[in-house]
Amino acid sequence: MTTTNKEKAVSFLRLLKLMWDISPRHIIVLGIVVVLQGLLPVSGALIVREIVNEVAALPDAQTSLTDSPPAVRLLVLGIGIAVAIIVLRSVEQLLTTTFSERVVPDMNMKLVKKAVRLDHSFFEQPRFYDMLFQAQSEIGRRPLMIIQEVPKFAKNLVTLAGFLIILLNFNVLLTLLLIATGLPTTYFENYFSRALFNLTRKQTPIMRWANYYRTLLTSVTSAAEVRIFRLKDILIDRFYNHLLGVQNAKVRLARQRILVLSPLEILTVLIYWGVFAWIINSTMIGRLTLGDLVLFSSIFLQVNAIIAGVQMSIRIFNESALFISHFFGFLDLQESELPPSKNLPVPSEIQEGIVFKDVTFYYPESNRPALRDINLHIRPGETLAIVGDNGAGKSTLVKLIARLYHPSKGSITLDGIPLHDYDLEEYYRQFSAISQDFVQYSLSVQDNIGFGYIEELDNHDLTRQAANISGADEFIETLEDGYGTLLGRIFDDSTQLSRGQWQKLSLARAYIKPSQILILDEPTAALDVKTEAKVIERYNEEASNKIAILISHRFGAVRHADRIIVLENGRIIENGTHDELMALDGLYAMMFNLQMNRFTGTMETLLDE
Ligand SMILES: Nc1ncnc2c1ncn2[C@@H]1O[C@H](COP(=O)(O)OP(=O)(O)OP(=O)(O)O)[C@@H](O)[C@H]1O
Ligand SMILES: [Mg+2]
Repeated sequence: MTTTNKEKAVSFLRLLKLMWDISPRHIIVLGIVVVLQGLLPVSGALIVREIVNEVAALPDAQTSLTDSPPAVRLLVLGIGIAVAIIVLRSVEQLLTTTFSERVVPDMNMKLVKKAVRLDHSFFEQPRFYDMLFQAQSEIGRRPLMIIQEVPKFAKNLVTLAGFLIILLNFNVLLTLLLIATGLPTTYFENYFSRALFNLTRKQTPIMRWANYYRTLLTSVTSAAEVRIFRLKDILIDRFYNHLLGVQNAKVRLARQRILVLSPLEILTVLIYWGVFAWIINSTMIGRLTLGDLVLFSSIFLQVNAIIAGVQMSIRIFNESALFISHFFGFLDLQESELPPSKNLPVPSEIQEGIVFKDVTFYYPESNRPALRDINLHIRPGETLAIVGDNGAGKSTLVKLIARLYHPSKGSITLDGIPLHDYDLEEYYRQFSAISQDFVQYSLSVQDNIGFGYIEELDNHDLTRQAANISGADEFIETLEDGYGTLLGRIFDDSTQLSRGQWQKLSLARAYIKPSQILILDEPTAALDVKTEAKVIERYNEEASNKIAILISHRFGAVRHADRIIVLENGRIIENGTHDELMALDGLYAMMFNLQMNRFTGTMETLLDE
């Protein structure tokens, strides 16, 4: 995938449009300031010529400055211009900084708003992360860079145009020669910055690997294993090698650039000085005035710097193109591959329940179905438990109900209407779920529970009730700031919890909202036996009037469910109550007995000792 110059130009214009939408006033004022700034050096140079000519025209060397009112006027004008240049520069800096203070948050907002609107499946695609990585990693500095560079570029163009007009009046051929000498350098600058663009794009996955190793080395979640398994050397090695690979290629390119551009620059300077010599000669033989000589000398000195400045801007724009194209590429992502939802309201009281009809599901980019031909009816008021080996498809099944994915074949309906047709926000309003890898929010206890019922985030009574149901209240009361305690290890003054305590909080989060659908995926994996029994008891009470689904490897928790389904390799192979499944003497009975025997076996060994 290559980005053409036209596409780059289009994204660049989009960026300018985005900035214009944020604050047209800033841009207009900045535009005026820039044009003035561009013109001032030209008028400065012209004034210097007039002063020199004025002085040269004075009759003898004895006259003082006060004897020449025109020279004084010109001098004052010159000083005025010099001061104006400084004032305008300060105004420009002030404008660009305040403006970027607004643009950067706005672009950040656009990025995260887009990210949360995207279908869940995007978060499993490497290409998505490449894009996000590029757009995100530079969003702090790139916009500011562009905002500073555009005025510089415009200013230089104005000044350059002014100087060229003066030169054109003087000698057309000479002007063309000067322009021509700048062209090869500009061409190659552009060539190399495009090469850098393509290189950086190609290196994005490598940089993401480097970043991943850095995270392993520096984050709290991996800190203990890195030490215990003595991973630090190998991880540092890999991290460093990835970085080195990226840097080496960049250095090679930079070297090529210097090798090509330096001779060109020397050639340009030689031509400049040749022209300059010719001008000195013209002055000596009287074809040009002394003022002309001063004017052209100052123009030559400045034009060289200005062309270098313009080339620098072009380079920065080219380098920014990767960021800009990824930024807009990200904003342009089609949010979902599904047709738009009909956004129907969710029934306030579910009647029939959820029905799976011949549902088969493949994860994106996978050619092995995670679920096959699932037929299932989940009625309100009936507690359902799902059991099965690791990888059998239990979590996948509830992820489909949670609308994180859409069936590849077949349909899932709620009261006869496909889930997809219900308004998603409304659906989630009726929905509580705790996933197997629930989130530990490094925020207050209140937030950790209240997030389950965002409309009542600060309702302390509800929070307490939910904590009571999940058994979290006992340890919360021992915390120094109770429900206000900041949790986790990332921020100052926070308290870390045990995994089981975190799990109790996540359960409270699931219980706090009066939802019609409740899904708990391995909710007791980290709980002690005493608490588990209590939690399951409460779950059965809570679940009595809901669609309630429990996934668990603990048969003590599962056996009281109204109905149990057994998944194997993505298929439902058994379906019934505990007693029915035991009588069937299939996989369920086998697993149940295995767990119970292990338990009694352990008890026997303990008693034997
Ligand atoms: N995001 C994913 N992308 C691709 N394949 C996936 C993804 N998540 C799970 N799978 C695959 O789908 C199958 C079912 O996974 P699932 O998470 O549903 O198992 P599970 O029954 O919940 O297992 P466990 O008891 O370990 O939680 C597995 O073979 C797994 O490799
Ligand atoms: Mg699972």
